[in-house]
Amino acid sequence: KVYTDYFYDEADFDKNHFRYKYLHIPDGIKRQPLAVPPVLEPDKQTDTDIWFTIESKEGESQILPGSKTHTWGYNAGLLGKTTVVKRGMRVHVTLKNSLPELTTYHWHGMEVPGPITDGACHAPVYPGEEKQIEFTVNQPAALTWLHAHPCPSTAAQVWLGLAMGVVVTDDNEAKLPIPKSYGVDEFPIILQDRTFHEDNQLDYSADYDPMGVYGETPMINGVVRPYVDVTTQKVRLLFLGGSNRREWRLHFDDDLVMTQIAGDDSFLQHPVKMTKLLVGPGERLQVIVDFKDYKEGDVVDLYTDDFKLVEFRIHKFEKDDSVLPETLFTPEDPEVDPNRQVRYVTMDDHNKMNGKEFSMQRIDMKAEVGKAEYWDVKNTNSKDHGMLHPFHIHGAHFLVVSRNGHEPNPNEIGVYKDTIEVAPQETVRLKVIFPMTGVFMYHCHIIEHEDAGMMAQIQIYDPKDPDKKYPLMDMATL
Ligand code: C2O
Ligand code: CU
Ligand code: CU
Repeated sequence: KVYTDYFYDEADFDKNHFRYKYLHIPDGIKRQPLAVPPVLEPDKQTDTDIWFTIESKEGESQILPGSKTHTWGYNAGLLGKTTVVKRGMRVHVTLKNSLPELTTYHWHGMEVPGPITDGACHAPVYPGEEKQIEFTVNQPAALTWLHAHPCPSTAAQVWLGLAMGVVVTDDNEAKLPIPKSYGVDEFPIILQDRTFHEDNQLDYSADYDPMGVYGETPMINGVVRPYVDVTTQKVRLLFLGGSNRREWRLHFDDDLVMTQIAGDDSFLQHPVKMTKLLVGPGERLQVIVDFKDYKEGDVVDLYTDDFKLVEFRIHKFEKDDSVLPETLFTPEDPEVDPNRQVRYVTMDDHNKMNGKEFSMQRIDMKAEVGKAEYWDVKNTNSKDHGMLHPFHIHGAHFLVVSRNGHEPNPNEIGVYKDTIEVAPQETVRLKVIFPMTGVFMYHCHIIEHEDAGMMAQIQIYDPKDPDKKYPLMDMATL
């Protein structure tokens, strides 16, 4: 079966909002090869441990013709390098801040202790400072990501470029017959949009909108008008929804089928074939595209809505008869203790969560580590003016149980996720597992909503020390 819809009501799409900005590309920009972020070289590596240095720094990036754009990045002028870690490894990271202001390093999708290692609001690294963190990778293969998360200026820092991919590999992935030559038949596709002002510069405050900031120009892995040279029959694309606000509604020429193989934090139990794919802010979706019906010289375009995003230029390739197995991954689906109460979370108008704005020193909920529980997450926006809100939890993964009591979307079954779109008046039931202790945020991943207060925090405790005190930052002292 091939699915041919986006699984959401069209009326709820961002493009139907009065603040929506249509994409456009300034005149005179030639198609450029898609930049593939290089893999970050470790400082040192043994059989069991790996050491990295991640430095946030300022840069000048040639994004448009003419003046370079002032940007920020991780060990790079813009975005960063792809960090690859293997399941089972102990990872040691030196976090270095060479920016003129404080930043934090949040491992979105990594199951690491909170709040310091997780790297959100409570883990500042001040200008000129270096901090060390370490964690053990104990989760399945997936594309996770690292982004800045200082509260409340996450959006502004991500806008300048502080985001990069973090790839987790494992033995299961190694055995799967899928494309895995990074930069050859496997490409990260970081989907972002930016508005370029005078002299090609970004100006977040000029573009600021508390409803969410759109950019007018698509920027894919930092490139405005990219093409990809296809040299193999099958290509694996790792989409990362890296925009602050924009949803991406992807589809190819000729309704070419995309076989989704992975979601946020794991492979899918069973691959799902689709012609349309909605990628919300914060989400990751991996697909395989089979170009068997094309030949050398053909060009196949990837669109978002009706805007042409990426050109795939077909070259000569060898025949590839590999067949995907029926089962790619077996998720653990622990029982929920029937005495455990369902948690209710609402995403509300005026950037509130459960009716409240985020407060740095307020713990909104507490839960025991490692125990599965149900969360009912409701978007309380009205049907006539509401929007999709992408709900995200730090330090956890979840299975999607139902949407308004019905089956979840086919591509969210049997997969670990950490970010999910919730439509107006919809309640999504999640089965949530936090494997680590600490204080973690959960929030809307439209980053302006998060910064404006659609965020809350949960303390995950070890029953031996349920009242552990964590040092929590105070917004006023930042
Ligand atoms: Cu992408 Cu609070 O996270
Ligand atoms: Cu996160
Ligand atoms: Cu939101």
